[in-house]
Amino acid sequence: MTSAPPDTSELSAQLSEHMNGYLYTACLYTVTKAGVADHLGDGPRTAAELAERTGLNGPHLHRVLRYLATREVFREDDRARFALTPMAELLRTDAPGSLHDPFLMLGEDLYWKPLARMYDTVRQGRTAFDDIFGAGFFAHLQTVPETASVFNAGAAGFSRLWNQHVASSYAFPDGAKVIDVGGGTGSLLREILTTHPHITGTLYDQQSVLDEHQLDTPATTGRWSVQAGDFFENVPAGADHYILKSVLHDWSDTDCLRILKSVREAVHDTSTLLVVDPVIPPGNQPHASKTIDAMMMVIHDGKERTQAEFEDVLGRGGFTVTRILPTPSLMSIVECVPA
Ligand SMILES: C[S@@+](CC[C@H](N)C(=O)[O-])C[C@H]1O[C@@H](n2cnc3c(N)ncnc32)[C@H](O)[C@@H]1O
Repeated sequence: MTSAPPDTSELSAQLSEHMNGYLYTACLYTVTKAGVADHLGDGPRTAAELAERTGLNGPHLHRVLRYLATREVFREDDRARFALTPMAELLRTDAPGSLHDPFLMLGEDLYWKPLARMYDTVRQGRTAFDDIFGAGFFAHLQTVPETASVFNAGAAGFSRLWNQHVASSYAFPDGAKVIDVGGGTGSLLREILTTHPHITGTLYDQQSVLDEHQLDTPATTGRWSVQAGDFFENVPAGADHYILKSVLHDWSDTDCLRILKSVREAVHDTSTLLVVDPVIPPGNQPHASKTIDAMMMVIHDGKERTQAEFEDVLGRGGFTVTRILPTPSLMSIVECVPA
């Protein structure tokens, strides 16, 4: 007598949900782009009411919202009205910890086109981004200013989740000069200058990014400057602290070594380099660093790194890791000195 085959129906349903993950992404992007959460700020509305305000098709929007309600994003009541849930609150533009700008960024074709070619990336051992767009990620951004603004805002939005934790986790001494290399529009540097009122800072990035900087606030007046340049060519000399936040993770070890060479040439004997990135923990546990790592592989040929990988690439780049400071966020501060 043969035994009955195991019942895999539950597993199969679970796995199919995983396989449809891109549908979830597309639905989240659609409601974010349409500003649905902002329209629910003053109470629940039907899909038809939301459609009037957003210009979307009511019945189609209803189906998207019904699907998202299965994931605890929005809740439908017995009058077919959708309300914000705590998760949906984070899609509002004015929510503390808003994910509105990051989600607009992640819905760009910059992300989903290379993701559709992930098989090629894993087969080739390099990103398919350049094959699709004809240039690497940041070179391509220079040619599409509107998309670049979406990216700059999205990167700053993610950064805002971590900036306060990073700024308050490092004791910058009074009088210190800080340079944030590849600092984007300056949201971290602004937070560092605000938290440490006796230091000065320079934001170093490409001119088009600096054009959108957000450094000028009453708390930072007179203590900030910007400088445009290419970190593969050089980095301004003479600062006490160099910061590379969410920069090394964009690049392969080979490219990181080019960036580190520029920083190494700029530092003086007592400067420190602060690399701010997640450190991948060992084990199978979920950790956002592992998610971001896979994304960096597909988009940039970049990677998140383990402690050993940081020590290796930084060592080859002329720096010794002195300590790794965890922060109460995803980010750690890998402190280094010139070797
Ligand atoms: C992922 S973003 C991180 C921005 C910021 N540090 C943050 O954490 O929000 C990477 C930054 O590197 C900058 N970047 C890329 N290539 C660069 C280059 N060759 N020279 C200077 N900056 C560059 C980009 O413009 C972008 O602002």
